Amino acid sequence: MAHQNFDVVVIGGGPGGYIAAIRCAQLGLNTACIDEWKNAAGGPAPGGTCTNVGCIPSKALLQSSEHYEHAARHFAEHGIGLKDLSIDVAKMVARKDAVVKQNNDGILYLLKKNKVAFFHGRGSFVKAVEGGFDVKVAGAAEATLTARQVIVATGSTARALPGLPFDEARVLSNDGALRIGAVPKKLGVIGSGVIGLEMGSVWRRLGAEVTVLEALPDFLGAADEQVAKEAWKAFAKQGLKIELGVKVGEVKAGKKGVSVPYTDAKGGAHTLEVDQLIVSIGRVPNTAGLEAQAVGLKLDDRGAVVVDDDCRTSVPGIWAVGDVVRGPMLAHKAEEEGVAVAERIAGQHGHVNFNTIPWVIYTSPEIAWVGQTEQQLKAAGRAYRAGSFPFLANGRARALGDTTGFVKILADAATDEILGMHIVGPMASELIAEGVVAMEFKASSEDLARICHAHPSLSEATKEAALAVDKRTLNF
Ligand code: FAD
Ligand code: NAI
Repeated sequence: MAHQNFDVVVIGGGPGGYIAAIRCAQLGLNTACIDEWKNAAGGPAPGGTCTNVGCIPSKALLQSSEHYEHAARHFAEHGIGLKDLSIDVAKMVARKDAVVKQNNDGILYLLKKNKVAFFHGRGSFVKAVEGGFDVKVAGAAEATLTARQVIVATGSTARALPGLPFDEARVLSNDGALRIGAVPKKLGVIGSGVIGLEMGSVWRRLGAEVTVLEALPDFLGAADEQVAKEAWKAFAKQGLKIELGVKVGEVKAGKKGVSVPYTDAKGGAHTLEVDQLIVSIGRVPNTAGLEAQAVGLKLDDRGAVVVDDDCRTSVPGIWAVGDVVRGPMLAHKAEEEGVAVAERIAGQHGHVNFNTIPWVIYTSPEIAWVGQTEQQLKAAGRAYRAGSFPFLANGRARALGDTTGFVKILADAATDEILGMHIVGPMASELIAEGVVAMEFKASSEDLARICHAHPSLSEATKEAALAVDKRTLNF
């Protein structure tokens, strides 16, 4: 078995791991990255959950289904007539797979370009050795690597309902939800979190009758209440059924479908009969098979690697980033941590600002936010001013025919520093970047209000929301 020495070995090639490996290599560290994900042909498919069964494929299907919905429901108002509209699900899924492959190939190219040694297989700790750690690679590339420093970036996997394993035919995780072969007549979703809303939207747009069952009494509890309310209205109008405050009983999956008994918020008993069921009730850190105990690496009771604010684990020389540690399970959070850790290993001062990590839900309307919500500010007793501007009053949104929602800005009452930006509406995913930059530079709402924004553009709604903080909108 081959034996090689490295400055840094990264276990996991998702957005946390492969970005950490590239940054380490850029900083002159001799770096290896181990990833076990296989494509359909058994070859390497780096990029992790994000690239293979997460961010990228879900956005590909969201795009396809949005085109379909536009053609079916909105082309007519532009004077565009269509006959015989149809959807070829196999082709849509094949396009999604091609997009995934482009990203896998892109990452392999980037690793090579940056001279990161890539090992396709499972990495596990063997033991601590003089000045580092031995890590075994099992799989296509069998090897033992000795590393001065190790970065664990092994990500997360879908959480199943107790007693209901994923079969990916009737009971689907995010993986199966991204490769449904034909539009189901009835689709059930458990959990109205990010995956439930995004994947529920895809199949609802394509004609499935979608029912989402959520345990909590509030919809999108992490979002600003006003945003959640607006999104709720829009989803209801689209026909996405969401029931809150439910208690799901013992689910039965048979050959023909899935039976989901549940009690509603008032205690009424129901059974939801569906063709397929997506279970999206959160994700669990992935540390199985890592042999963490071989080096004394401390895990918490969820199996997450315990780290401090700087991603240092309980073992000096071992770091951990991304979904496998505390904090939001987001690709860009994983990447930021990966870069910061690489810089710390190289003796620099890597930094992640956890207050300015944006959240985006790619439904229609899109939902995006950064910083604090109004309810968080109230709970903290912080004096603030709020300003919002509806897309209904924005010329570009009217031209697009997409006027749902608003931009809302929250600013400190005394200093005017922006404390949060919340958007529900068209291209919220892109617009939120302005809020992130503003907050990173500690801008005031007046700063934003004084910046020239292109006309006509959706970004003018951001400027107007900043003006609204001072009660001086120009176009509303
Ligand atoms: P992962 O991406 O999970 O990568 C971990 C990698 O390590 C995997 O390739 C795994 O095979 C490998 N691995 C694990 N153990 C070992 C081992 N012992 N040896 C070798 N390799 C190993 N986030 C967003 O920011 N935006 C989105 O739009 C978004 N959409 C999502 C949609 C869905 C359906 C899902 C499920 C998630 C989505 N996420 C999104 C979340 C995002 O995918 C994760 O936050 C991100 O992938 C975490 O990156 P990571 O590098 O920590 O882990
Ligand atoms: P989630 O945490 O977003 O939502 C899970 C939902 O399921 C919660 O609302 C929870 O109350 C509910 N729930 C839990 N147990 C339940 C039960 N027994 N019955 C009914 N409801 C129950 O988790 P999700 O949607 O699985 O996504 C996982 C993570 O992946 C997200 O938190 C996010 O970090 C990431 N992601 C990010 C995306 C993005 O950035 N656009 C897209 C998709 C996923």
